[in-house]
Amino acid sequence: MCGIVGYIGRQPASEILLEGLRRLEYRGYDSSGIAVRDLDGISIRKKAGRVQELARLVDEQPCPGNLGIGHTRWATHGPATDVNSHPHVGGNGEVILVHNGVIENYATLREQLQALGYVFRSATDTEVIAHLIAHHLEEQARLGKDPEDLQTALDAVELALRRLKGTYGLAILFRDFPELLVAARLGSPLVVGVGKGEYYLASDGSPLVGHTDEVVYLADHEMVLLTTEGMRLIHRDTGARAPSIQTLDQTQHDQDLNGFPHYMLKEIFEQPQTIENAMRGRLDEEEATARFGGLNLTVQQLRRLDRIVLTACGTSWHAGLVGEYLIEEFARIPVEVEYASELRYRNPPLSENTMVFAITQSGETADTLAALRECQRKGHPTLAICNVVGSTIAREADGGIYLHAGAEVGVASTKAFTSQVTVLTLLALHLGRLRHMSHPAGKRIITALRNMPDVIRETLKCNDAVREIAKKYHHITDCLYLGRQYNFPVALEGALKLKEISYIHAEGYPAAEMKHGPIALIDEQTPSVFIVPHGNMYHKVMSNLEEVKARRGPVIAIASQGDKALDNLADDVIYVPEVEDFLQPLVTTIPLQLFSYHMAVLRGCNVDRPRNLAKSVTVE
Ligand code: M6R
Repeated sequence: MCGIVGYIGRQPASEILLEGLRRLEYRGYDSSGIAVRDLDGISIRKKAGRVQELARLVDEQPCPGNLGIGHTRWATHGPATDVNSHPHVGGNGEVILVHNGVIENYATLREQLQALGYVFRSATDTEVIAHLIAHHLEEQARLGKDPEDLQTALDAVELALRRLKGTYGLAILFRDFPELLVAARLGSPLVVGVGKGEYYLASDGSPLVGHTDEVVYLADHEMVLLTTEGMRLIHRDTGARAPSIQTLDQTQHDQDLNGFPHYMLKEIFEQPQTIENAMRGRLDEEEATARFGGLNLTVQQLRRLDRIVLTACGTSWHAGLVGEYLIEEFARIPVEVEYASELRYRNPPLSENTMVFAITQSGETADTLAALRECQRKGHPTLAICNVVGSTIAREADGGIYLHAGAEVGVASTKAFTSQVTVLTLLALHLGRLRHMSHPAGKRIITALRNMPDVIRETLKCNDAVREIAKKYHHITDCLYLGRQYNFPVALEGALKLKEISYIHAEGYPAAEMKHGPIALIDEQTPSVFIVPHGNMYHKVMSNLEEVKARRGPVIAIASQGDKALDNLADDVIYVPEVEDFLQPLVTTIPLQLFSYHMAVLRGCNVDRPRNLAKSVTVE
């Protein structure tokens, strides 16, 4: 959470910083701020609220200069107020910095610094870092180090960082080094954009789009020094390293709304394309299997697997549940789907031939990263299914599969989910074909997969019908989502989507579980969304649906086109194309995404910036 930007070059920094913060707003949007340096010193502007509030302030009180840092906040320590907004100032203004992460020992450090006379203005953990660096600058001077020597400043930063427990991505300006921008990372991502005589800094690649496509990702315990002359990368333990320049994997298309009112809707409608991208170059018709470039495991290793652990959070965890059904059905390998936040502190007995897959859109989710590291520590091969190229999890996993879904900006994950499910289908096919699955069976799966972009295009035609249904229901306070087998994770995902952007209480259940408790919630005011397409579970779910109708519960059904049986049974029906059971999640999830979207819009909610949420949860 929180987004960081920085710039050093010849252009007016404040414009670049503000535009960068707008693009990073999905990471947090409680408050924001910038600090810009010019010949007269460093000006700070900060404000609670959205970046547009800050932009208004900067319009009224411009801050000229070609070097600066900025921050958009998702509050962890201290409420969202002007004073708690970043940047924070250390000592007597010697250090100005912005921070993403959490400092766990901030209370102790704060006490120590207060005892030394440092005066705190905010309730944040971040201010501790600013004063700590200022303190070490002072100490270095006391030890006789030249205060004008750059090395003195770097040593002070290094000494301060060694005292921190927790995570940080930092961008730092120094009062006495007018042409220097320092950044450091431990656990919170940072990327440097390399321009001509200029450098950009950001929490992810989105602010760099349109400026440069050459990037350098910082590793943990690394610090980068940026001047208009060049960049220096220093690792705490291994010293200087030559920057390895990579190509940015984002385009202007990802950043633009392209005529849609919200990113979420744009991303929902991108799904025919993103599902196709997830399959591109990976379907091998001749061998009737899927192929991946980056698994980094031999066929023998894959054949020996006796267990797969899929670990993730939120929507990615729901995709993992679909993966469990797919892999067990196609490859007959036992699968467990673990919340990363639980797995990281559990000690499950994992055999030598267990493979751990982290599923993550952002590649930065703190719990997923910690679970991955814990499994690596125990010697298990770890792989990632990830969207963001160059993200921490993508780099730290032993291998993996990219989604190629393009940047997902909407806080509510949509296209990443269907891409994850697509990739998991390919993985299940790959593992199945290495074991017992026949060539014709593999071929049938490939043919069905190839049709999916068109099927999703057809599915999206339900948008108008879904909007009309949302008009009828948008005042509800509770909602149940029910589905079985492949559609049980879809029910969970549908409920999560409704909760997170329209703030309606929603629960997802396996449809047959309803009668073990949740049925008590059914009344005339509580609709149930039944996912009941034609397939193996159709008649079973229909019986559950009848049970709800018998108790006067309103029913919205997601059904296969041509299913007349629901016309007189459900209150509202959304028809989707009929596909085989294993492909149903890709189809049935679409009307649920649209339903939550329209419900939220009708309730006047900010769809792309839901309250209290951030796109990428980089704190525990
Ligand atoms: O980036 P990740 O896939 O690791 O994120 C995991 C969850 O934080 C994320 O899916 C979250 O649940 C979304 N807000 C769901 O829409």
